[in-house]
Amino acid sequence: MIIGVPKEIKNNENRVALTPAGTQELVKRGHTVYVQTTAGAGSGFQDDEYQKAGATLLPSAADVFAKADMIMKVKEPVEQEYKLIRKDQLVFTYFHFASYEPLAKAMLESGAVCLAYETVERADGSLPLLVPMSEVAGRMSIQEGAKYLEKPLKGRGILLGGVPGVKPAKVLVLGGGVVGANAAKIAAGMGADVTIVDLNLNRLRYLDDVMPKNVHTLVSNEYTIREQVKESDLIIGGVLVPGAKAPKLITRDMLKTMRPGTVLVDVAVDQGGCIETCRPTTHEDPTFIIDDVVHYCVANMPGAVPYTSTLALTNATLPYAIRLANQGWKKACQESQELRLGLNVIQGQVVYKAVADAFNLPYTEVSKYLA
Ligand SMILES: NC(=O)c1ccc[n+]([C@@H]2O[C@H](COP(=O)([O-])OP(=O)(O)OC[C@H]3O[C@@H](n4cnc5c(N)ncnc54)[C@H](O)[C@@H]3O)[C@@H](O)[C@H]2O)c1
Repeated sequence: MIIGVPKEIKNNENRVALTPAGTQELVKRGHTVYVQTTAGAGSGFQDDEYQKAGATLLPSAADVFAKADMIMKVKEPVEQEYKLIRKDQLVFTYFHFASYEPLAKAMLESGAVCLAYETVERADGSLPLLVPMSEVAGRMSIQEGAKYLEKPLKGRGILLGGVPGVKPAKVLVLGGGVVGANAAKIAAGMGADVTIVDLNLNRLRYLDDVMPKNVHTLVSNEYTIREQVKESDLIIGGVLVPGAKAPKLITRDMLKTMRPGTVLVDVAVDQGGCIETCRPTTHEDPTFIIDDVVHYCVANMPGAVPYTSTLALTNATLPYAIRLANQGWKKACQESQELRLGLNVIQGQVVYKAVADAFNLPYTEVSKYLA
């Protein structure tokens, strides 16, 4: 198969979908890999390393899209890329369709096959291609939150861990999944007083077992969240309903009950956000303030730590990419239930129910294409 790796062009996105090591694995299996020049530079991988691994460098994204059977990306295609995507081309990347209708419409019009990293799903319900980025974003959310709690950055001016004789900060984590558990672990390690809320009691039981003593768990409901936000210094949004928009757990009116300088980090912003007042921001201008509450809503948080993120992501995506390249998307998806669940759009039809529901689009069973 011919595989194309364009350079990411989303604001401050420095990750790349394939490393030189991954290139070598594909090339040694007989595949051809085209990489756009400087695609890996932001993650510390130079053009000559890709060439040594067997890739051919191409000067522009247009060249890469024109040649490849399978495009491997990191972020969802942006407007400039829509027109480059060809009918029947396989695009393997994060899409997060449910949060952005123009992207869904553009991909339907392109006639491409869109296999979304975020909905590839194991039999146990885990999402293997979301996990590594959620690990990064969860850990980073506390690093960023701690920074924006500083007074010069408009926060409350409270140190997460406190000091002897002074109380630590209170951190509320919405959702105890991968983002939430990683956030809680780092916040607890820094000495904060941490509360995780989740709907899933079994998950709360597990977290209660494995987390340190300064992490508490609560069942998620509106009453509890209303009470908690009044006394929290840092709130992390990490809820997910797979493939659908995030539920708004923090509503506009709750902001007035928070202390001035409270910091909200809505990691779930890529699925629409779980904080009503959240809108996507970038690493160049990551925060905005409403009612004296600092909002940090960067949709591609791992992009700020591209070295760690590229390696974490490609460790997880490469085995699937190899399978898609070896077998083609149809056979690979016939044989692998995990990959089949990644199919969101096929040749002008939505084949993932939650995406169809989000925009009232017609839904077609994926089995129709795999017979
Ligand atoms: N901004 C970024 O850069 C970035 C990076 C990685 C992940 N994310 C996003 O972070 C979000 C969380 O990802 P994850 O991997 O932790 O997901 P996950 O599935 O591991 O965890 C989600 C948790 O939310 C819980 N939940 C669902 N509804 C809830 C509710 N009403 N109240 C409380 N908890 C509820 C679930 O029970 C689950 O435990 C996703 O939207 C993901 O796309 C964003």
